[in-house]
Order: sequence, then structure tokens, then C-alpha cells
Amino acid sequence: MNWNSNLINNLEWADKIINIEGKQKVAAEIAAKVKDGDIIGVGSGSTSYLALVAIAQRVKDEKLNVKAIPTSVELSMFCSKLGLPITTLYEHKPDWLFDGADEVDPDKSLIKGRGGAMFKEKLLISSSEVSYIIVDESKMVDKLGSKFPVPIEVFPQALPYVEKELKSLGATEIAIRPAKGKDGPIISENGNLVLDCKFDEIGKSFERDIKSITGVIESGLFIGFDVNIIMASNS
Ligand code: 5RP
Repeated sequence: MNWNSNLINNLEWADKIINIEGKQKVAAEIAAKVKDGDIIGVGSGSTSYLALVAIAQRVKDEKLNVKAIPTSVELSMFCSKLGLPITTLYEHKPDWLFDGADEVDPDKSLIKGRGGAMFKEKLLISSSEVSYIIVDESKMVDKLGSKFPVPIEVFPQALPYVEKELKSLGATEIAIRPAKGKDGPIISENGNLVLDCKFDEIGKSFERDIKSITGVIESGLFIGFDVNIIMASNS
């Protein structure tokens, strides 16, 4: 694999990718799955970026006719930079997708959303035939919520109501995610706040329970999706 190291180095978080060699191997595995004509969903996160770079390289080298459905504006711009044509869920259904995760439990349920893109990521995973979730050992947990809080995207004016409802669902801590490098909260691409919530116990019905609160757009709980976990070895 001829890695486009320039592109990787240009990304602001490139030096923060943990276990880059292991993730690059898996990125090559993902790229090897690409077939001519595929519509591919592109999840967010550093691991996904690596897979995207590998896919773009194969598409370029083999002149494949492939289209990507990105889960963020940033990723759309990155696809353009890589010369990978993009499309939307209006026009195409993804044949498969790849994405990362923050936690994976033994039932393959996930916490996602450290990048705040869980609404589009869930839309894509719900629309895709096959999903590959790339993680390393550090993401495997016995119980969801052991390492990461649950991200929840909330319509701003619903905040007081949603906070009250989350507390009655058992939230022990609710933090409004701050913007990076400036005062104030982070605002999602959909114009919403992101809350990071801790719960002592995350039940099977939690994804539905949280989603049913008026004002919640989406949560980072991905429970019961039929996903293929691809493990990057720790190098
Ligand atoms: C973003 C996500 C990411 O997939 C998740 O945070 C994992 O990221 P990384 O591969 O950088 O560890 O859900 O919303």
C-alpha cells in the first residue's frame, strides 16, 4: 500500500492517532473490500480517516467507479481533496460502510459520537446493508459507559427539559460539550448542543428511552445493530 503520508500528516490530529500502524493495516483490509460500482458510507473519527485515505488510493490507482456518502462536512471536503466522488442518501443507498467507535461491548453494541456526528452516523448505519466498525483493544468494554459518557445531541431550547428527563432516566452527570479552543458550547452540524452523559447502568432499552425525549435528536448509543467488528492489532 502506497500511503499518502502527506495527507495524513496534514490532518491536525494526525500525531494523536493511537496505534497508527495497527489501524493502517486494518484500513488496507477495508480498502481491499472495495468493488467497482460500490456506494460506501464513510464514518467519522481518526480510524475512518485512515480507511478513507486507503480507499481513495485504491480508487485512484485502479480507476474504480466508487462513490462515498460522508457523515460530516469535514469528511465531504476531505473526500473532495482525495478525489473521491461523493453522493447523498437521497440518491443512493450505501452498499456498505466503515466507521469507528468509542466503546464496543460483548454484544457488539456501541458508544459513538466523540466527534459529535452520531446523528448522521446512525442514519447511515440504519441505511446500510453491511457495516464494518474499526476499533482496537482499547475500545472493548464489558459494560457500555465504562470509559466514555454517552453523547446526546439536543435541540438547544430543549436543554432544561431534556436535562430533567435524562436525570429521571438515571443520568448521574450531564456535561454540555465545550467548543474546542473557544468559549461556549460546541454546536453540531445540525445546529444543536451535544451533552455527554454518565449513567451507572445502560439498559437495553436506553437507546429508545433517550430518543423518545422530545428535543433529543440522537444519542451515541448504537444497540443491537448488525455490525462487523474489525480489530486493529496493537502494534
Ligand atoms: C465520531 C465517532 C468515531 O467513530 C469514534 O469517536 C471513534 O473515533 P476514533 O477512530 O478517532 O477513535 O463516533 O462521532
